[in-house]
Formats: sequence, structure tokens, C-alpha cells
Amino acid sequence: MNTAKWIEYFNRNRQNRPEPDWSAPVTVPTAMLAPLLCSLEQFRLGDGGGPASLIALNRESFRSRTDEMKQIVDLWFREEAEHARLLGCAVRRFHGRIITSHWSFTAFCLCRRLLGVRFELQVLTLTELVSTAYYRMIRRHSPDGPLAALCELILRDEAGHVAFQRDRLAGDGVPHRGLRGWCWRLQFFVCGLGAATMLWVNHAPGLKAIGGTRGEFYGEATRQILRFIRSLRRKEKPAPIPALWARPQSVT
Ligand SMILES: [Fe+2]
Ligand SMILES: [Fe+2]
Repeated sequence: MNTAKWIEYFNRNRQNRPEPDWSAPVTVPTAMLAPLLCSLEQFRLGDGGGPASLIALNRESFRSRTDEMKQIVDLWFREEAEHARLLGCAVRRFHGRIITSHWSFTAFCLCRRLLGVRFELQVLTLTELVSTAYYRMIRRHSPDGPLAALCELILRDEAGHVAFQRDRLAGDGVPHRGLRGWCWRLQFFVCGLGAATMLWVNHAPGLKAIGGTRGEFYGEATRQILRFIRSLRRKEKPAPIPALWARPQSVT
């Protein structure tokens, strides 16, 4: 994996980040606000609002492979912490609460901690893919301009994270031929559907309130997961570095 390329990408991605206009009038109808806000409060916790680092007990076996990898992991998680900051601004804009625990987040962290860094990286990759579906739906249906602008910023970052995960997996020699390749893709797809279902169970009321549907969510999540799998199968060449402000769907 070309680590210098990713360090340069993450450093460049910190530039040109127009802050959403949080002082603009709130345009969310009252009936939509409560379920949408509940979803955003939980998402703030899950997207960088908890520990902004790898937390698997054996995390150093990945993080300390090289000094460059350590730097990339830190830069990646710095962007996740930035997502929590942006979501916190949206939560405060709608007069919500900054929550610090939720049963689903506690279970998520426990699995990440106990099941090893390889599993943690897969879970985080899948989370980034299904979160992309979530943010795309919010951006599409958002009745609030600053909230849509927040999604635009986060989607730009997640496109980079997904491309990084693709490069990382390809560099680690993920099986892509024969029965082993088929089994790997199947387990990744099934785990991806599990991650999508966890997200839908917790966030369906918020997504439905703004006009989203289950079919739309699963269609979007499945598309993201399958595109990732296909891009890995094609992967003899390095993942393209996302251009600043490129639409995320063109990246993975
Ligand atoms: Fe994120
Ligand atoms: Fe991410």
C-alpha cells in the first residue's frame, strides 16, 4: 500500500471545508424533528463521538506496522472525531442532547475490543459503507440546508475512508480467487447486511420521518457493499485518491 499517498490525501482533505451555516433558520417541520433528532444524537455518538482510535486489544499489531500506518490511522480517526463535532453542531442546532452512551454503541465497542483488530477493521469498513447509505438518504431528503451540507462534508470523507479500506484490504492480500475468494465475499456481504440491519433498526424512525423508506435504505446499502466487493475484485491497481468535492458515489 502506498502510505505516502494516503498521508498526503488526509492532510489535503483538511483544507476547503466550508462550515455549514448553523445560524440559518431551522426549516424542519415539527413532526419530523423528534425522530430525526433522536437519530442524529445516536449517530453523533457512533460516528466519532466515542473512542477516536482502534480499540481492539491487539490493535498495535496493525497500527504499529510502520510509522506511516500509525500516522494514517491517527489521521483517519481525526476525521471521525470531526464527524462527531459536525453532528454535535446539528444536534445543538435542533436543541438536542449530546449523549455519551447507548446500548447499541456499547455492544459495538465490546465486539470491536474483544474480537481482534482484523475483525474491528472489517466492522469499521462495513460501518462506513452503511453510514454512506444513511448520509446519502439524509442529504437527499433533508428539509434543512445546513444538515444537507453536513452530509456533503461527511460523505466526502467517507468516500476517502472507503477507498483507503479498499487499498488496505488489497494490500493485505484478501482472497479474491476460487472458493476462498467466494467465501470471503459471501461473509463480507452477509456481515454487511447485518450492519445495515443494525443501522435500520436504530434509525428507521428518523429516516422515515424525512420521507425515506426501507427499500431505499437497503437498496443504497446493498449498492455500497457490492460496489466495494467489485472494486476489490478488480483491484490490481491502487484505489484512486478521492478528488476534493468529488461526489462520493464516483469513488468506491
Ligand atoms: Fe465517520
Ligand atoms: Fe469513516
